[in-house]
Amino acid sequence: MQKNSSFTTPFDFIMEKTSADQTERTSLLLVTGAIEQGGRVMAALLRKGPLVGVTGSALVRNIQGEEVQKLDQIGQDTFLSLFRRSRAVMSVLSEEAEQPDNLPYDQKNPLLVAMDPLDGSSNISVNAPIGSIFAVFHPPLSSSTAPEDLFLKAASPVLSAYLLYSVSTSLVLSFSGETRVFTLDPDTGEFLGADMPFRFPENGKIYSTNEAYLPHWEKSLQEYVFWIKSERNPAMILRYIGALVGDFHRNLLKGGIYLYPAEAGEKSSGKLRLLYEAYPMAHIAKNSGGIATDGKQDILSIVPRSIHQRVPLVVGPSDLVCEFHERTGNPLPGR
Ligand code: AHG
Ligand code: MN
Ligand code: MN
Repeated sequence: MQKNSSFTTPFDFIMEKTSADQTERTSLLLVTGAIEQGGRVMAALLRKGPLVGVTGSALVRNIQGEEVQKLDQIGQDTFLSLFRRSRAVMSVLSEEAEQPDNLPYDQKNPLLVAMDPLDGSSNISVNAPIGSIFAVFHPPLSSSTAPEDLFLKAASPVLSAYLLYSVSTSLVLSFSGETRVFTLDPDTGEFLGADMPFRFPENGKIYSTNEAYLPHWEKSLQEYVFWIKSERNPAMILRYIGALVGDFHRNLLKGGIYLYPAEAGEKSSGKLRLLYEAYPMAHIAKNSGGIATDGKQDILSIVPRSIHQRVPLVVGPSDLVCEFHERTGNPLPGR
């Protein structure tokens, strides 16, 4: 890889954005370092895929009733042990575990991590893009918070990240109002990226959704999809990878809106999980000139009621998300 002297690393980014509080800086550097190391481990395994037997089902179901893939378990074990080793994480909530894992820590200012260790499981067997997603929180101020309530009472993420394992391995990191995009150099193990904030481009014309579910959506959503592809000028085009990380990343780079609505009816709440799928993408979007909503309100204003809560998700650059809200009869206040 041709190196450019203006490249920076996640370490540089965190150092640049922290200084007032040394204990917070140390914890954030350790957590970011664990995410980077997990990305290196996963990327190295994924390069060999079926040759080292890491693809395929683990022949069990997780607490959400979904079939667990071997890589879901490998991701869970890899990131959990790295967060444990960091000594800077108080508790880890994961898609793959019913209850958070409380970890021993000795760093001051320890953090909480909510993670989807392997996003896009159904893409594993067909060698299509997959990822890992993280939201990092400060624990709630009240020291009396019971361990299982830590994630319900934490405020918005302080740092969010995802790893995308595809043509190359990307690490997208959002902190302190900025998003940075890094690429793994597999020869040196370094994540390198441009020394500038990353933002959604304007005038994007991609929409990403599993349109097979459209007959089950509310009428206003069906009409919106019909409008963007047939009446809007310019019309929008559909791209759908089937892994939130992959779809979000393409939309971040090219300009596009991602939709995973609930089915019509009071009981439905969508598929994606609030704490470790919607929150981190909402935080990254906000720091990149975008918005995420559940179709009615800002995702980051939703107070979780349970740790594995699901929500509908609409996320993308502000212009496209505002347009979605106008067309579906729920204009966003102040926009
Ligand atoms: P996970 O593999 O972590 O369970 O997440 C899969 C999610 C998300 O990544 C993706 O956008 C969505 O499921 C795709 O769902 P459909 O197959 O229903 O479109
Ligand atoms: Mn997922
Ligand atoms: Mn997952």
